[in-house]
Amino acid sequence: MKPSIFITRKLPQAVIEPLNGEYQVEMWEKEDVPVPRDFLLKKAGSASALITMLSDQVDGELLEHAPSLKVVANLAVGYDNIDLHAAKERSVIICNTPDVLTDTTADLTFGILMAAARRIVEADRYIKEGRWKSWSPLLLAGSDIHHKTIGIVGMGSIGEAVAKRAKGFDMNILYHNRSRKPEAEKMLGAAYVSLDELLAQSDFVVVLAPLTPETEGLFQKEQFQAMKKSAFFINAARGAIVNEEALTEALKKGEIAGAGLDVFVKEPVDSDHPLLHLDNVVALPHIASSSIETRTAMMNLCVQNVMAVLKGDEPRTQVK
Ligand code: DGY
Repeated sequence: MKPSIFITRKLPQAVIEPLNGEYQVEMWEKEDVPVPRDFLLKKAGSASALITMLSDQVDGELLEHAPSLKVVANLAVGYDNIDLHAAKERSVIICNTPDVLTDTTADLTFGILMAAARRIVEADRYIKEGRWKSWSPLLLAGSDIHHKTIGIVGMGSIGEAVAKRAKGFDMNILYHNRSRKPEAEKMLGAAYVSLDELLAQSDFVVVLAPLTPETEGLFQKEQFQAMKKSAFFINAARGAIVNEEALTEALKKGEIAGAGLDVFVKEPVDSDHPLLHLDNVVALPHIASSSIETRTAMMNLCVQNVMAVLKGDEPRTQVK
């Protein structure tokens, strides 16, 4: 019998082409709707490999249902949806998609920073709603980006790629990370500071840390109060790093100037979520890595990782 691979979302045929023939491949046939949990559990029951999305919970329960499972390839660099401990206990190899998405994610992170600071989305809405009556001196005046201070929380490869973009804007670069990054300090002139220092000094606080027990709920009322009133909060990592009620309060009370959010605690975020009703918030539906080129590279990498493990080879990007 051919090993069976279940893919939890519809992917382009060209991407799964290399799997055809040698493997029995089945996909959840919807692009925009996550696979129902009971369907996933059923398919996991006979799967040797799963290609999963960050919206699928790969937990102990799922792994219990999957006696022949050898590998889970997650279509994301983040893997907070996966219980690594449970996977290790069952010798299931977990793969993610680092590196191929670094620049694309950094582009969007910098884009949302610019959109929030220069009120780009608000301005687009303003003109399309026919509200532009005259040029005026302070019409939709935003905040400068160049020569300001950016504080990056989480200096992994995406953090470094954002710092590189910030350098091009002549920004002063601060970072806070679990460990120091001497290379980034040397190449980009980034200065390592404590989180408190970063919050106090930054004009843009940019979160790019993974979601872990240490970072969950890292941003509370106190952290927003510690920021400059003129500062912007940008999150392109995971929603749960932030207490959204505290962020909403800080934005409403003018404790910070604005926010750019690509991620939310609950995704998709409800359309009546208070954060979506604030003019000083730019909100995006978790699309930081979403360019055709990068998403295709991520999908191809998942396919290559699955094939490698099923052939008994080392996958390219295993989560250790
Ligand atoms: C990731 O890869 O973890 C991003 O959040 C989605 O591309």
